Amino acid sequence: MKILITGATSGIGLALSKLYNSHHHEVIAIGRNKQALIALENEGIEVWQLDLVDLNSTRSTFQKLKEKHGLIDLAILNAGNCEYVDCKNFNAELIKRVFDANIITLANSIEGVLPLLRNSHNPHLAGVASMAGYLPLSRAEAYGASKAAANYLLETLAIDLKEENIMVSVINPGFVKTPLTAKNDFPMPFALEVGSAAEIIFNGLAAKKAEIDFPLRLTIPMKFMSILPRSWWRKLAEKLKRKD
Ligand SMILES: NC(=O)c1ccc[n+]([C@@H]2O[C@H](COP(=O)([O-])OP(=O)(O)OC[C@H]3O[C@@H](n4cnc5c(N)ncnc54)[C@H](OP(=O)(O)O)[C@@H]3O)[C@@H](O)[C@H]2O)c1
Repeated sequence: MKILITGATSGIGLALSKLYNSHHHEVIAIGRNKQALIALENEGIEVWQLDLVDLNSTRSTFQKLKEKHGLIDLAILNAGNCEYVDCKNFNAELIKRVFDANIITLANSIEGVLPLLRNSHNPHLAGVASMAGYLPLSRAEAYGASKAAANYLLETLAIDLKEENIMVSVINPGFVKTPLTAKNDFPMPFALEVGSAAEIIFNGLAAKKAEIDFPLRLTIPMKFMSILPRSWWRKLAEKLKRKD
């Protein structure tokens, strides 16, 4: 299979790139970090340096990818970033940065990759959202909102691309130990090693699952709490909130 992975230079995307490469798939890795791209290239992975927030660069890169490869069988749209909000100093620029990193990169990648997926006999598009999108979490005004939006965007695409036989999977990880979460200064229940997370995603995508939510030990309580009346959840969330 020809597999395109965004956010391939670090964390989950890096682990997935190496895993698919070790299973002899043709991996096309996208990221910005030059050093990390060179390291991937040295492992025999094709790399493209691209800032996915920049629509013009994204369009021209995907045009070149189309000319070179013609098709992509599986696109894993994983690029993203997390910043937490300090409501005492609410900063709209932070919200924009997080939406750029998580939603604009996703939308730009989707526009770029759809024409290549349409040339595959068995096209599959997967997007990495997050369990943070399930319900409102303290300080996640930007990240959680962007991941809830990512989830909605992907789930809607799943409905609208069905008639073209393009399968869409939505990946909602809990905590995974990566450079992104290394910044977290709070306990991360059931945090997974990145290699385990990549295996779960790899197996879920091979099984063509619509939703890949993990770990179950966190998914189940989070989904349960998301259906509580919001007034109950607000009281509980207030108790769980970090005390500064
Ligand atoms: N780790 C977790 O616990 C967790 C949980 C739920 C969801 N997620 C989601 O999983 C995805 C991967 O997260 P991670 O933990 O592996 O984070 P990470 O180690 O920080 O990796 C993020 C990746 O996204 C790329 N990226 C960010 N902005 C980009 C841009 N504008 N253009 C191109 N590439 C860009 C980065 O590339 P460069 O560094 O090369 O720019 C990097 O490869 C994210 O969408 C994150 O929200 C993570």
